[in-house]
Amino acid sequence: MNRYFPVGGPVSEDDIIDRELFLEGLTRRLSDGQNILLAGPRRIGKTSLALEVLRRLRREGHDVALVDMFGITSVRELAERLANTLLENRTGVQRTVEKLRDMVRSAAQTEVRLSVQGIELGMSFARRQGSDMELLEESLGITDKLIRASNSRVILVFDEFQELSRIDTNLHKILRSHLQEKPHISCLFLGSKPTLLARLFSQGNEAFFRYAVSLPVPEIPPDAWSDYLVRKFSERGISITPAEVGVLLKLTGAHPQDTMLVASEVYYVLMEMESQVVSLTVLEIAYQRALQSLMRAFEELWGSLSEHQGAQQLIKKVAHGERPYGQNASPARVGRILTYVMSQGILVKVGRGQYEFFEPMFRDYVTQL
Ligand SMILES: Nc1ncnc2c1ncn2[C@@H]1O[C@H](COP(=O)(O)OP(=O)(O)OP(=O)(O)O)[C@@H](O)[C@H]1O
Ligand SMILES: [Mg+2]
Repeated sequence: MNRYFPVGGPVSEDDIIDRELFLEGLTRRLSDGQNILLAGPRRIGKTSLALEVLRRLRREGHDVALVDMFGITSVRELAERLANTLLENRTGVQRTVEKLRDMVRSAAQTEVRLSVQGIELGMSFARRQGSDMELLEESLGITDKLIRASNSRVILVFDEFQELSRIDTNLHKILRSHLQEKPHISCLFLGSKPTLLARLFSQGNEAFFRYAVSLPVPEIPPDAWSDYLVRKFSERGISITPAEVGVLLKLTGAHPQDTMLVASEVYYVLMEMESQVVSLTVLEIAYQRALQSLMRAFEELWGSLSEHQGAQQLIKKVAHGERPYGQNASPARVGRILTYVMSQGILVKVGRGQYEFFEPMFRDYVTQL
């Protein structure tokens, strides 16, 4: 991530562009005890926003933890990750569970307990006793201990929450039943599969039915982008005009990650040219390089779309400016494909029968196929 313009992961406090009102609202809601769902397409800044909110909540004295579900394959792993992240802020010990294991091993005792500020982690973690579900219960129990120890609120963020059902189908029920009688716990659920998540929180037969308030992730307004880009470039003695910022934003559709990526390439192109003046040529070269660096991700995305019959053809059509509902297509079938393509965050509806790419750079990739 060590670039002048951050790309590829959550951004630091200083690089969060705008979204201040949203951040204030989100912080307030969580510290008031509301549960929130933030679902949105990939690379728009969900994790960045969550981390910033957690920094603020921690400063207010709350216990906070972010559990990233991505890549977790078992209940045991989930239990350990949860325990680690809950205890990390308290104990200053990262990987608390491993630490506990080390203690048990080196002391060859049976009564070692890691106890910091009244928070104890039981032996089962260290000795790998208990079923995976019992371990998870123990991890979740840490939240109660935190609340008792400090009288504070515990704020849990579950990132990539849609992954939970892949780990174990019973997890929703278990988690929900642990959370529901706990007025001192607030949860922020994040995920990049909006349709799937919407279903989890809005269908009557689902464990998380009406459990959280769903908020849309706000866009970064063009003015905020402009202020940020002009300021960042000028810090390095580089000048960019509002008109050029406009061109850049038009190319990227102000998509958070893509805009940062092109800005980053502009910066490096200028360094190579030993120039400090952005021009349309520079923008064009930077854009092509950014597109090149997104190629792998786009290829993967494109490949994944072959799972749904007709999706790739329809996306190609829209990329070439045609309307999805053609003359000899069955409207019902097209409707189904569109629903899928929109659920993947690829197309958005902009008018009756009119669709656009959420990420214009992906459209460019598709037209060049
Ligand atoms: N508020 C913001 N200000 C500036 N850049 C941002 C902002 N939000 C996102 N970005 C850009 O988008 C990239 C991805 O951000 P982040 O990882 O927070 O998004 P995400 O929605 O959680 O993505 P993913 O779908 O991969 O989990 C960042 O590296 C940065 O380039
Ligand atoms: Mg994320």
